[in-house]
Amino acid sequence: MKTYTLYSALASVVLANLDSAAARILTSLDQGASYDFVIVGGGVAGSVLANRLSEVSSVNVLLIEAGGSPNGNLAVEVPFLGTSLSGSAIDWNYTITPQTGLNGRSFELTRGKVLGGSSCLNLMTWNRCANDLYDHWAYLSGDDGWSWANIEKYYLKTSRLVAPADGHNTTGQVTPSAHGDGPVEVSVAGFLQPLDSVVVTASKQTGGIWEFSEDINAGNGLGTTYMQSSVGEGKRSHAASAYLDPIANRTNLDILINTQATRLINVATSGTPDIRTVEYAQSRDGPRSSITATKEVILSAGVIASPQLLQLSGIGPSDLLTTLNITTLISNPLVGAGLVDHPMIPLYFTTNSTTTWDPVLQDTNVFNGDLERWQENQTGLFVDSPADVQSFWRIPEGDGVWSSGEDTAAGAESAHLESIWVNAYAPFGSAPPSTGNFLTVLAAIVSPSSRGSVLINSTSAFDQPLIDPALLTTPFDTYAAVKVIRDIKSFLSTSPAFGALGLEPYGDLASAFVELASNSSEETTSTGEYTKLLKYAVDHSVTVNHPMGTLPFSSSSSTNSSSEAGVLDSELKVKGAKGLRVVDASVFPSVAACHIQAVVYTVTERAADLIKVEYGLI
Ligand SMILES: Cc1cc2nc3c(=O)[nH]c(=O)nc-3n(C[C@H](O)[C@H](O)[C@H](O)COP(=O)(O)OP(=O)(O)OC[C@H]3O[C@@H](n4cnc5c(N)ncnc54)[C@H](O)[C@@H]3O)c2cc1C
Ligand SMILES: *[C@@H]1O[C@H](CO)[C@@H](O)[C@H](O)[C@H]1NC(C)=O
Ligand SMILES: *[C@@H]1O[C@H](CO)[C@@H](O)[C@H](O)[C@H]1NC(C)=O
Ligand SMILES: *[C@@H]1O[C@H](CO)[C@@H](O)[C@H](O)[C@H]1NC(C)=O
Ligand SMILES: *[C@@H]1O[C@H](CO)[C@@H](O)[C@H](O)[C@H]1NC(C)=O
Ligand SMILES: *[C@@H]1O[C@H](CO)[C@@H](O)[C@H](O)[C@H]1NC(C)=O
Ligand SMILES: *[C@@H]1O[C@H](CO)[C@@H](O)[C@H](O)[C@H]1NC(C)=O
Ligand SMILES: *[C@@H]1O[C@H](CO)[C@@H](O)[C@H](O)[C@H]1NC(C)=O
Repeated sequence: MKTYTLYSALASVVLANLDSAAARILTSLDQGASYDFVIVGGGVAGSVLANRLSEVSSVNVLLIEAGGSPNGNLAVEVPFLGTSLSGSAIDWNYTITPQTGLNGRSFELTRGKVLGGSSCLNLMTWNRCANDLYDHWAYLSGDDGWSWANIEKYYLKTSRLVAPADGHNTTGQVTPSAHGDGPVEVSVAGFLQPLDSVVVTASKQTGGIWEFSEDINAGNGLGTTYMQSSVGEGKRSHAASAYLDPIANRTNLDILINTQATRLINVATSGTPDIRTVEYAQSRDGPRSSITATKEVILSAGVIASPQLLQLSGIGPSDLLTTLNITTLISNPLVGAGLVDHPMIPLYFTTNSTTTWDPVLQDTNVFNGDLERWQENQTGLFVDSPADVQSFWRIPEGDGVWSSGEDTAAGAESAHLESIWVNAYAPFGSAPPSTGNFLTVLAAIVSPSSRGSVLINSTSAFDQPLIDPALLTTPFDTYAAVKVIRDIKSFLSTSPAFGALGLEPYGDLASAFVELASNSSEETTSTGEYTKLLKYAVDHSVTVNHPMGTLPFSSSSSTNSSSEAGVLDSELKVKGAKGLRVVDASVFPSVAACHIQAVVYTVTERAADLIKVEYGLI
């Protein structure tokens, strides 16, 4: 089943892939080439590292990326077309394993195979999470360098606030002083829609868990807010456009594209493994070559491929490695364990409003008109990701669910639940209706307790590993799935602002809701509506595409077997090895309750400084 069919039929018409040649981009290495640092994977983390390490003119850096350049791909540039890239030539096309919590369903998991990685295909939402996430990581790892007080400067290096595409006055929609001066361009929606002001008005009317927040990136991660996106001048701002394109003339950075790392090799003949050789190939059966870093290899292949490469290299659960005849170099059962993603349940309503953007998906002429307008001057609907407003809230302290477990969030300002408001039918798994006006509320669990895994199923890097996010497999998560729907239902039925939209639950939701107007959130888990809403969640959940946590960092002094063990030390070096670090979304030691790209950029900015300090480069 396809997760994102959104616009794919229409957008395939406009896809172009005109790779433009840029300096220092190679498809093979020179004989005798030597590098201080070899970075595997040119996604968010790899692009940031390539830039920050090559700032030091005395070091040579090699970045190896499995995909090619995103430049010239119109669907990467046009924000509204982002979802059409799932299942395209720049998607790894992973499929998750059948999900026991979803009645055996499985679906595709999108991951970018291109310079810029998943930031070229993502929905561009820009959240940095609450301050308390970083403080929690400092606590878990015993390294105060991760605390917000110490990491704020790295967040400020990642991005800067720019004007929205339509230049509207953003007073009250964002707090400029909370933003920094880095290369990723961030803006609020450049084409606000009628629904956006309805949700904001409702949030101001209702308060409580729906309370309006001027800026969700100012410390507290709770509230209803105008969504910020990695968009500047109406175009997607991604890791390659922000961190690589501006430094294309650096002579101490080489970028090897269309090349896949196949495993890492120990260069030590005895003692602690020293893992500085990267083996690579350009096709499944093609010749293997290798390159050895003089200082360090940094694995930034992302939350799926980084644990896959470690396991292929003999670093992982030894029973699994033994089954596949891979010699265990470092035994650690946590390599690939701990995969967590945010489950997302799309809720559809019909509306009597005629100002939704449904016609874009229903009428090719409307689609082409919006696209032409974007091409003419980067304005109009297509400057936005398909949603402009989001809400984050907590399950309150007194809720019965806490009697059977600890808080799943990092702290009191981190959310458990989220909703994203879309002014049309946003299709997940089914084609949009050919007529009608709709509201979609994307309901998500952002602090789930379920944990899954990424485990290799063969000895080839060209076979996909078994990816199991284990969605909705804990009592907390199934409770939270019902709770998030009930909270949204209650908001819709009690806030007068929504009354003007004439909302009615649509499709399977119509029979799951006993009655939109009745607020039955007090019902216990044994009642009929609870059962119906849970069935709806099980049948319709997908994910927000935020997998993380497969190679967690931890206290540098804890051993593999201790309870606070992780895979990496608090400076992101692989425990039990020399010469090897991991920097990407794998390293999160606990679930981040927001859209995670800004967190990956921020973690990587710190990692770049840790590396520079270690080698005396600053
Ligand atoms: C469809 C979608 C929507 C999303 N929406 C949002 C959003 O709205 N907001 C948000 O904050 N986040 C969003 N995300 C998540 C966000 O984009 C990712 O969390 C982030 O990009 C992760 O960064 P990374 O560096 O860990 O990995 P990636 O950016 O995925 O980079 C990994 C790179 O490694 C390369 N690679 C993999 N294996 C190899 C190999 N063997 N050899 C060489 N190279 C290799 C890949 O090709 C890729 O370029 C979304 C993601 C997707 C896919
Ligand atoms: C993903 O699947 C699509 C459709 O089958 C295909 O065109 C594309 O090339 C695939 N992507 C990769 C990286 O192989
Ligand atoms: C934007 O709006 C605010 C509040 O309405 C106002 O004070 C401010 O002067 C406006 N800014 C500009 C540049 O018009
Ligand atoms: C690259 O270009 C920038 C600006 O165009 C310039 O400041 C810098 O010196 C150049 N670097 C090299 C290595 O040529
Ligand atoms: C592992 O090696 C054994 C002995 O050489 C062989 O019988 C077996 O088929 C191998 N297994 C795999 C998965 O390659
Ligand atoms: C952009 O072009 C559209 C027509 O395609 C026009 O209506 C609009 O006014 C233009 N906007 C700007 C800011 O030039
Ligand atoms: C895992 O490997 C086995 C044996 O090669 C194969 O039959 C199976 O299809 C693989 N599973 C997946 C999900 O790729
Ligand atoms: C939509 O329905 C609501 C509720 O019945 C009503 O108040 C509103 O006027 C209607 N709006 C339109 C545009 O018909």
